[in-house]
Amino acid sequence: MNFELTQVTRRFGEKTAVDSVTLSIPHGQMVGVIGRSGAGKSTLLRMINRLADPTSGSIRFGELEVSNLRGAALRHWQRDCAMIFQQFNLVPRLDVLTNVMLGRLNHRSTLMSVLSIFTREERIMAIAALERLGIEQTAMQAAGTLSGGQQQRVAIARALMQAPKMLLADEPIASLDPLNAKIVMDSLRDINEREGITVITNLHTLDTARAYCERIIGMSGGRVVFDGGPQDLNADAVKAIYGAGHDGNEIDESMTSTAIRAPVAKIATDASLSPTAMVATAH
Ligand SMILES: Nc1ncnc2c1ncn2[C@@H]1O[C@H](COP(=O)(O)OP(=O)(O)O)[C@@H](O)[C@H]1O
Ligand SMILES: [Mg+2]
Repeated sequence: MNFELTQVTRRFGEKTAVDSVTLSIPHGQMVGVIGRSGAGKSTLLRMINRLADPTSGSIRFGELEVSNLRGAALRHWQRDCAMIFQQFNLVPRLDVLTNVMLGRLNHRSTLMSVLSIFTREERIMAIAALERLGIEQTAMQAAGTLSGGQQQRVAIARALMQAPKMLLADEPIASLDPLNAKIVMDSLRDINEREGITVITNLHTLDTARAYCERIIGMSGGRVVFDGGPQDLNADAVKAIYGAGHDGNEIDESMTSTAIRAPVAKIATDASLSPTAMVATAH
């Protein structure tokens, strides 16, 4: 099912944050949105999952007109397009497992949610999601005690608990060191490839978009100024997206680089914290 944005515009007073954006995104694509700070990347993502509403234009997923959804239908949509953020948005004092299970809230009855009763199946699902991200050994720790890279992986595990059709990520690696940035981007790519989920991720760096995304959308001043594959992202395209340097020279690509070069570390697992042991103690 294609995801279609047609002349989507969002204004804040006099400011046009997103200016008549039209895009068609086939299901299962891995899309990177790049551009300078203020280009409109976050506003675009927030409109997709209705954290912000378009001033005009249409956002459609198959037959569904996303911009008209209300009530339960809106919650259902927000479950279908899980979002992760630069700052992770976990509940720091709660343990990792509970944080991940909170991803199920939109699937559950209000009473069960209010009482925070999670089923055995939900616990098993949460541990499987943590294993998938290689951080099951952190399940009982308070989320706030984890490193940034681990916290972002918890946030991805929580997003997976929503069984989303689409994963939206707003600069997911902007606060991370290069090694953790690579682990998080590898996780997003793996989810895209293995689950076939559409991934749309804002990235402030070119090289990450080049390395991970089959399609790159470049924004400047709220408009889409580039839409193509990494191979199409030549010097002219880069200039259209980021503009020329202050003195009119070519921009130095290293300025927009996170320099992800570190090898992936083998993630240690502790046999004494096996999933079954944790399920047993979690009751
Ligand atoms: N809630 C808001 N109120 C007013 N202006 C906003 C708001 N959100 C974003 N903007 C403005 O819209 C423009 C695009 O912002 P944003 O989407 O955050 O860009 P990016 O994510 O690419 O940095 C910026 O000029 C920003 O100041
Ligand atoms: Mg932003």
